[in-house]
Amino acid sequence: MNAKIVDQHVECYVRSLLPEHTGLLKVLEQFAKLHNVPIIHPEIAQYMSVLLEIAKPTRILEIGTAIGYSASVFASHMKRGHIDTIELNAIMAEKARETFEDLNKSVPEVSLSIHLGDAKDVIKTLEGPYDMIFIDAAKGHYQTFFETAYDLLSKNGIIVSDNVLYKGMVATDDYIVKRKITIVKRMRKYLEFITTHPNLETTVLTMGDGLAISYKKGILNE
Ligand SMILES: C[S@@+](CC[C@H](N)C(=O)[O-])C[C@H]1O[C@@H](n2cnc3c(N)ncnc32)[C@H](O)[C@@H]1O
Repeated sequence: MNAKIVDQHVECYVRSLLPEHTGLLKVLEQFAKLHNVPIIHPEIAQYMSVLLEIAKPTRILEIGTAIGYSASVFASHMKRGHIDTIELNAIMAEKARETFEDLNKSVPEVSLSIHLGDAKDVIKTLEGPYDMIFIDAAKGHYQTFFETAYDLLSKNGIIVSDNVLYKGMVATDDYIVKRKITIVKRMRKYLEFITTHPNLETTVLTMGDGLAISYKKGILNE
């Protein structure tokens, strides 16, 4: 059975309330649909837009660029600053590079650097602090991404992890597809880890494919 996080009628209704994107974001949404590129769900894009307006990060690290859609959403809601984004696939990274060239015309005050490679290695070459880290790459490796990037997150910074409920499979064995068992088990461990971490305040939202927001309290000397 293919599980959904939210009932379809609720999802459709909520999506009908979202502002329609124009320009580059619309073009990227159409490209992603045509070429089957996974990008953040519309309600996640809107949630992130609101979060960025509230938290006002000026330095963001993104793990999993694809064609640069989510990074473009983030940049559109930053007054100024820098986004480092990491992508393993060279073809995706090239497309993202083109995206960021276009984006620069409308959002010149936000610079973007795309890093080609495995995030597990690339993160070690980057310098923090980041106000926000967005994890949206290989679902079986979130724990490693988190552990490698955590020291780069500023005190009071935010880590956002996408797809944490993975089509509902993470919430119940009833929906698990056999070949996804390892990913699901790892995601459960990751959620257990971030929801019990003494230096984080975490909430798991049942929107999109599941979104975890973790706030670094900065109470511990780590
Ligand atoms: C869901 S897509 C990212 C979508 C993008 N954040 C957006 O919403 O526009 C995940 C991307 O992560 C990349 N990826 C997978 N494993 C990775 C790794 N270990 N390091 C860096 N990127 C990785 C994939 O090639 C893919 O393009």
